[in-house]
Amino acid sequence: MNVLTKPEVIGSIEEMRSRLTDARSRNVSERVERGEAGLGRPRIVLVPTMGALHAGHLTLVRRARSLGDIVVVSIFVNPLQFGVGEDLGSYPRTLEADVAALAVEGVPFVFAPTNQVMYPDGAASTRVSAGSVGSLLEGAARPGHFDGMLTVVAKLFNIVGPDVAVFGQKDAQQVFLIERMLADLDFRTRIEVVPIVREDGGLALSSRNRALEPAQRAAARALSAGLEAAASVAGQGAEATLQAAHAWIDAQPLVKLDYLVVVDPLTFLPVGALHHGPARMLVAALVGHTRLIDNVALNLP
Ligand code: PAF
Repeated sequence: MNVLTKPEVIGSIEEMRSRLTDARSRNVSERVERGEAGLGRPRIVLVPTMGALHAGHLTLVRRARSLGDIVVVSIFVNPLQFGVGEDLGSYPRTLEADVAALAVEGVPFVFAPTNQVMYPDGAASTRVSAGSVGSLLEGAARPGHFDGMLTVVAKLFNIVGPDVAVFGQKDAQQVFLIERMLADLDFRTRIEVVPIVREDGGLALSSRNRALEPAQRAAARALSAGLEAAASVAGQGAEATLQAAHAWIDAQPLVKLDYLVVVDPLTFLPVGALHHGPARMLVAALVGHTRLIDNVALNLP
């Protein structure tokens, strides 16, 4: 019989660090006992989340397990990345169910600090700036979001000290900005990006999907359908991809489009008419009160 070991749920920074020091030396001794010494330092892999875990997160966790020796999942609804009037208060918080799901995945450690632990002064006095790309697209709709996101990611990396951290491709701008922060600020952590996981029907999995009513969920599928249609005509150029996606999205009155754009993956700026090669189409829309984002890779001729 497979006996589940519940993850240790840790709330304090000091305890997290000391548990990881112990886990590292335990891992080394176990390897020596198995005659596997000389494999290098045990690798810590972090999966940062805001909880309300779904199948997409569990895919990140499985990838994390394949990448290292000690997996930590952080669960923290970071107030710094929510703006005034956003869904901080109603963001789903399901710690018990999350821990149960992580037990099934064999995760040893969950770091679940309170706001007081992360921001003892009420708000971090020092923040990471996401720079100019941080105020485009998601950053234009959610001012300060990316500064808050990068600040908590930097804190989590300093607390856990991961060799690798795993993120989902759904948050493409987040991934771009984290990669840039790691390079610009000389972090040692590298990131692994996992493809988007979708429901049947194509909707990208998100903790926010649970706020969608059935008719809204059906309408929201126009986003992924639009991206798929765009990718299928990528050989005809950026303008054709935009038209193909608009045809799906504009046909859905419940979907209020915020932006639909093709960006250069190296700069995250909209592509010009002469751009060719790799590009990414990004979409964001409100469906009811729920903000949804999605994206797809394109190869432009
Ligand atoms: O993608 C998320 O869930 C959050 O932005 C992150 C990376 C956990 C930071 O709060």
